[in-house]
Formats: sequence, C-alpha cells, structure tokens
Amino acid sequence: MHIQIDQTYSLRPFRPSDRDDLVAGLNDWAVARWLARVPYPYRQDHADEFLRWDEHIDVATAMTNSGSGFALAVCRHKRVIGGLVANPAEEKQHREIGFWLARPFWGQRIMRRAVATMIDEMLRAAPHIGIVASANHDNLRSQRLIRALGFVPDGQREVISTPLQRAVLLHCFRRPGD
Ligand SMILES: CC(C)(COP(=O)(O)OP(=O)(O)OC[C@H]1O[C@@H](n2cnc3c(N)ncnc32)[C@H](O)[C@@H]1OP(=O)(O)O)[C@@H](O)C(=O)NCCC(=O)NCCS
Repeated sequence: MHIQIDQTYSLRPFRPSDRDDLVAGLNDWAVARWLARVPYPYRQDHADEFLRWDEHIDVATAMTNSGSGFALAVCRHKRVIGGLVANPAEEKQHREIGFWLARPFWGQRIMRRAVATMIDEMLRAAPHIGIVASANHDNLRSQRLIRALGFVPDGQREVISTPLQRAVLLHCFRRPGD
C-alpha cells in the first residue's frame, strides 16, 4: 500500500528501517507530551517494539477489521516525518485515530491533508466502521485540525497519559452521522 498525497508527501506502512526517523520525531517532548501512550524519552527499543507489530505487514487487511489497529507512516519523499494510527475505539465498530508530526514540519497543514487522506482510505475500505478522535483539553492545534476535518465535539473523558504520567482530560470528537 502506498498512497500519494501530492508529489512530496505520501502514506505507507511502517518498515523496520524507519527506526531512526521514528526516534528523531518522537524523542521530542514537544511532540510526545501530547500523545497518550508514547513513552518518553522515546528510545530505539521503543521504535523497534512498535515496528514489530504484525499489523504493519498487511495494513489493507487490518483496515477492514474494526478489531485491529493499524498505522501509516507520513513520508516526505522517502523519509518518515510523522505517523497516523487507528485503534479499536471503546465504542464497538469504531476506530479512534491519532497522529503526530516531527516538529520541523508543523504549521504547514501537512497533517490535515495526511489525516484527510487516511480517512478517505478508511471509508473506502470499511465504510461501516465509524471514526472518532480526541485530543488533550489544552492541545489546541490538534483540536483545530480535528474540527477542520469536519469532526464535531462528543463529550470528554479522562485517560492516564504515559508521557505525562498523570490523568488528563480529553476532548472527544466524532464524525456527524457516525
Ligand atoms: C497536532 C499536529 C499533528 C498538527 O500538525 P500540523 O501539520 O502542524 O497542523 P496544521 O498546520 O494543520 O495546524 C493545525 C491548526 O493549529 C493551528 N495552530 C497552530 N499553532 C497554534 C497554537 N499555538 N494554538 C492554537 N492553534 C494553533 C493552525 O492555525 C491550524 O489551524 P487552521 O488550519 O484552522 O489555521 C502537530 O502539531 C503535532 O504533531 N503535535 C504533537 C503531537 C500531537 O499533538 N498529536 C495529536 C494528538 S491528539
């Protein structure tokens, strides 16, 4: 699977050779602090563990099964600059999406286009699986991005953040009609 966003950016499954790009992007407090389950400092063994997921082998199949999670790398030419995940949500037949972008690439609406492309692909592969999103209550960048994609507010919930090592309040979003 290789999905071109434009001539520069694309989405594809992660590969073992992405380890250094993953560590470069995620071992940055400005990125990791907003992610629910990412350890910090983010070391090579954390990247290796993630890259060993079976789901990377056949993302197309994982996409059609609401019980499976999957991830896609956001690439600038051949280098990974970010990541997208879609994990089974608490609500049955729904997936919760998550995303991160290496800091040098922030502020260019790259992630908005990457997430929109992934959602198109998810809806094509499995139109019956709903899509939800959430962001820390003070993650205004992420909330703007989620709203710009047409998601609407859907309450709040508390989770334990791995990087922050405390409970945080999440603002939840769903797609109208899902
Ligand atoms: C969230 C993230 C992926 C955004 O990627 P990006 O490509 O920079 O996104 P955009 O350029 O589309 O910017 C998102 C929005 O935030 C706005 N924004 C930028 N800085 C902001 C700030 N300090 N406060 C509020 N909004 C801000 C932008 O104006 C944009 O909104 P707009 O398109 O309506 O103008 C990136 O910042 C990131 O990886 N952050 C750390 C990890 C993270 O937060 N992941 C999401 C977890 S839920």
